Amino acid sequence: MEDFIYQADRLHAESVPLELIAEEHGTPCFVYSAAVMRRRIEELRAAFSGQSCRICYAVKANGNLAVLQHLAQLGCAFDLVSGGELARVKAAGGDVSVSVFSGVGKTAEEIRQALDAGIGAFHVESPSELERISRIAREMGKVAPVSLRVNPAIEVDTHPHIATGFRGSKFGIPWEEALETYRMANRLDGLEIRGVACHIGSQLIDAEPIVMAARQLVGLADQLREEGIELEYVDVGGGLGICYQDEKSPSLDPYAEGLREAIGDRPLSLIIEPGRYVMGNAGILLTRVEYIKHTTGGHFVVVDAAMTELMRPALYGAWHAIMPVIKAEGRERLNCDVVGPVCETADYLGRSRNLAVEEGELLAVFSCGAYAASMGSSYNSRPPVAEVMVDGDRHDLVRHRGEADELYAGETLRQS
Ligand code: LLP
Repeated sequence: MEDFIYQADRLHAESVPLELIAEEHGTPCFVYSAAVMRRRIEELRAAFSGQSCRICYAVKANGNLAVLQHLAQLGCAFDLVSGGELARVKAAGGDVSVSVFSGVGKTAEEIRQALDAGIGAFHVESPSELERISRIAREMGKVAPVSLRVNPAIEVDTHPHIATGFRGSKFGIPWEEALETYRMANRLDGLEIRGVACHIGSQLIDAEPIVMAARQLVGLADQLREEGIELEYVDVGGGLGICYQDEKSPSLDPYAEGLREAIGDRPLSLIIEPGRYVMGNAGILLTRVEYIKHTTGGHFVVVDAAMTELMRPALYGAWHAIMPVIKAEGRERLNCDVVGPVCETADYLGRSRNLAVEEGELLAVFSCGAYAASMGSSYNSRPPVAEVMVDGDRHDLVRHRGEADELYAGETLRQS
């Protein structure tokens, strides 16, 4: 896939053989391609050329500091959802003043931190949150930039766990209450209204629902203008799908064109918040086969990576391609489940795969740049794995493999 390709029988990340990375940094290990990230951003820029469109990369997809640094250098702003992500963006040199703070449950502490850091806007999800931000801003002697994240009540075709814009979802302000909530924001002290936002779901193969949502948001902006509330931007969230198996990403041109038409000649700029589109296919998970186990239930390839690195199969039944790092010709293929060592039946990376693989060999799990490392857990006391970024023939360790004692560093024994 793209920059993870075989040269002869060996899988490379750009110009670097993956076996070399495994030798140097061990497995499991995430490997990211700087070139793929660059290309994704260039594609988005090209699709939106001539239009005022800010890319706020969704940090939740992959918040590794080197990833954020690279994207900041490519001119991206950020969509963040916690004090932790705010700290990451700052540590990576990202521009907080053009970034947005989304999320349904911002704590008072997080709001203070973001105001201190000069956040571009809070994307507010409830009247209570508006009141909280107003109070904190006044206490701090600041004016908080706010936008409302509204729920346009649009059904999308994706896994139910990652659809967010349907009626009754916990996300956003219900469409019927949007106008009233803007009026409330306008009345409260310490707030300055900036725009309107939504995010209707993720891994969307058809971008038309995003364009439909944009039309609704623009309609709302028109209504608000009549009431004297002038918005600066419309933020349509993320959601662009990628290829895991045989899906296709939505074409960018109709998406960009649809959004351009929705805005028309209004003085509104656009924000998009892609996460998966930028990072999904920019990373693989490198893993080594520990054991091959044959049981009456089938064949199991037990690898050293697990649901702790890639939760998506367990959580959504997601499919990720799994390929050998060194192709072996003429070997018999085994119909097998690729599983991790974690004590959960749901701990699998792939089911019913045909692999010609032997113990000790390396496998690459594809499309692991987004929502893999960032959703990692330390279940079974598994420390975080190494992460490497490749750029041409250069490869840098951008996260060292964790140690067990780092996991329990914050814990204390009781005094007897
Ligand atoms: N903006 C907001 C407000 C979001 O909630 C999200 C994702 C994004 C942007 C980025 O969406 P993207 O462009 O990546 O689709 N863990 C799931 C995905 C959860 C997405 C949550 N929100 C998965 O692995 O499929």
